Amino acid sequence: MVAPRPKGQRVHGAEMKGNVAVVTGGATGLGRAIALEFARKGVHVAFNYLDLPDRDIGAQALLTETALRGLGVEVYCEACDVRSREEVDHFVQSAKAELGGLHYLVNNAGVARDGALWRLSEAAWREVMDTNAMGTFNCIRAVAPQFRAQHFGKIVSIASHQAFTPGFGISNYAASKAAVIGLTRSAAVELGASNVNVNAVAPGFVRTEMLSKLPADVVERAEHQAALGRMAEPEDIAHVVLFLCSEEARHITGQVIVVDGGLTIV
Ligand SMILES: NC(=O)c1ccc[n+]([C@@H]2O[C@H](COP(=O)([O-])OP(=O)(O)OC[C@H]3O[C@@H](n4cnc5c(N)ncnc54)[C@H](O)[C@@H]3O)[C@@H](O)[C@H]2O)c1
Repeated sequence: MVAPRPKGQRVHGAEMKGNVAVVTGGATGLGRAIALEFARKGVHVAFNYLDLPDRDIGAQALLTETALRGLGVEVYCEACDVRSREEVDHFVQSAKAELGGLHYLVNNAGVARDGALWRLSEAAWREVMDTNAMGTFNCIRAVAPQFRAQHFGKIVSIASHQAFTPGFGISNYAASKAAVIGLTRSAAVELGASNVNVNAVAPGFVRTEMLSKLPADVVERAEHQAALGRMAEPEDIAHVVLFLCSEEARHITGQVIVVDGGLTIV
């Protein structure tokens, strides 16, 4: 099906301040850095989280909420599993009601459950696909009616360099992030006529708790292999996400911006 041609598009929300961002998995790591970056720009933030085994995500969510409020913006936080359509719809509708609108969606929630593919359980495959791919779909679907109705919205999903150059033992993760990229392109096609930009950011390795599960030598090698010889800090990714949500990036859609310090060019 061919998307209807865009009519003259209204520039909306050129000023980010006072707008509302939804950041999934915003309690920790990359999501927290993205949420804080929005807040520094005066954007109100809704974020969700899911408690993970051996992690204190609930406590981290409280810290993130406090840090966001400290920057003077309004905050809405909910425990919500992105794998559940019902929970996502509830979270998005509550965020809109509490914060008075919806303008940006950042699909950041993600998990990894690594293992050689001949040993990978169906549960590990499903958990990663459901969280990273289905979760992203659930969230885009939840905001789409509002974004279409107001003829404005920015969606950025966090993919990974592993979608292009996978390491060993991450077939589920690489497939899920490749799905995020395919979904990004097709959502850009379908929502373009409604003046909604849909892009993805594909980070290399980023210094967050997610990396602590990888063998130290893998991380060290990646750091040295990158052309810039260093690993990303969460803020390096957050700045690119914010750029894609800004009016300066209004003509960019359906793209994947690789932010990996040159890891995939060497
Ligand atoms: N750290 C890296 O090197 C790296 C590299 C490339 C991409 N990424 C991606 O960046 C994103 C953030 O990862 P991170 O490094 O900050 O790790 P992280 O584990 O700190 O953050 C992931 C967050 O997602 C949330 N989450 C997990 N499953 C969820 C679910 N079903 N519903 C709602 N929330 C859920 C968790 O509560 C957690 O706060 C992920 O999508 C990850 O795949 C990370």
